Amino acid sequence: MSSKNIDWQNLGFSYIKTDLRYLSHWKDGAWDDGVLTEDNRVHISEGSTALHYGQQCFEGLKAYRQRDGSVALFRPDQNALRMQASCERLLMPPVPTEKFIDACVQVVRANLDYLPPYGTGGALYLRPFVVGVGDNLGVRTAPEFLFSVFCVPVGAYFKGGLTPANFVVSGYDRAAPHGTGAAKVGGNYAASLLPGYQAKERGFADAIYLDPETHTKIEEVGAANFFAITRDGRFVTPRSPSILPSITKYSLLHLAHERLGLEVEEGDVYIDRLDEYAEAGACGTAAVITPIGGIQHGDDFHVFYSETEVGPVTRRLYDELVGIQFGDVEAPAGWLVRVE
Ligand SMILES: Cc1ncc(COP(=O)(O)O)c(C=O)c1O
Repeated sequence: MSSKNIDWQNLGFSYIKTDLRYLSHWKDGAWDDGVLTEDNRVHISEGSTALHYGQQCFEGLKAYRQRDGSVALFRPDQNALRMQASCERLLMPPVPTEKFIDACVQVVRANLDYLPPYGTGGALYLRPFVVGVGDNLGVRTAPEFLFSVFCVPVGAYFKGGLTPANFVVSGYDRAAPHGTGAAKVGGNYAASLLPGYQAKERGFADAIYLDPETHTKIEEVGAANFFAITRDGRFVTPRSPSILPSITKYSLLHLAHERLGLEVEEGDVYIDRLDEYAEAGACGTAAVITPIGGIQHGDDFHVFYSETEVGPVTRRLYDELVGIQFGDVEAPAGWLVRVE
C-alpha cells in the first residue's frame, strides 16, 4: 500500500480520482494559461458541440518511474502532434506541442504520489482531451473549447507474464474509408462499443476491424494497432488512412529495424493470407504488446505462433520497448521526457 492507499500489485485500468488535473480554456482565438484544479467535474453548456456532434478528441500516454528513481513521459511530443491532427480534422483549435507537454508535466508533478513504483509494472496514465463547449445549437464548430489533462495510476497489462489473446473479425467498421479513423476522436470509439461487446460475449479479447473499403485487409485490433512477423522474419504492419497512427507501433517499427535488425514494412495484411505470418501482435499504450494467439474469421480460426506461448520476436520487441519505458534499456534520443 502507498501513502494514498493504493494496492500497486492489483491496479487495473479503471478510473481513480487523483489530486489535480489541468484545465485550459479557448475563447476569442486563444488558449488561456491553464490551471491545476481539484475539481474532477467539467461544467459545460448543455448546447456543447462535444455532447451533440462529437466535437472532441483525446490522447493517452504514460509516465513511468524509472529504475534510477526519476520519472519520464514516453514520447509526449508524438501525442501532441497526433492531437493537433485530431483537432484539425474536427475543426478545433490545436494545442501547441509546448503547451501540451507542459500540461502533462504539471499533472504528473502534481500527482507523484499516484505514480506506481519501479518494479510493479504499473504507470501513470495521462488522458489529455479537447472538447467543444459553449452555448450552441446548430451543426457548426463550437464557440469555446476546453483542453484538459487528468491522470490515473494503471497496473501492468499482464499480471502473469506475456500471454496471447484471441480476437474475432467484426463485420462492423470503426471508421469510414475517408472518415475519421486516423484521428483519436470519440466517434470511432462509440462505433466500436457494440462490436467490442459482441466479441467479448463470444469469449474473444476484442474485435478486429478490416479496411472499410474492401473488408479484405486487417486494420486495427480493438483499440490497438496490428503487427506481424513474416515467416522470413520481416516486421509488417498495415498502412491505411483509416488506422489510428499508433505511437507504440511506430516505436516498434523503429526498434525492429534498428535494434533487432529486421526488415520492416508498412503494407497490406490480407485476412485470407495469415499463413504468411509466424507471429502477430496488438500494440498500444494500454495494450503495450499483446501477442495474438489466434484470429476467428467467419468459420475459420487461424493460430499464429501459439495460443499459450509468446513468439520469440514478439518477446524481444516487448523486452526492448518496456525496457526503454522503465529506463532499463537505453532509449533512442528524445523518446523520454524527464519530469523531475
Ligand atoms: C484505435 C486505436 N488504435 C491504436 C492505438 C494505439 O496507439 P498508441 O500506441 O499511440 O497508444 C490506440 C490507443 O491509443 C487506439 O485507440
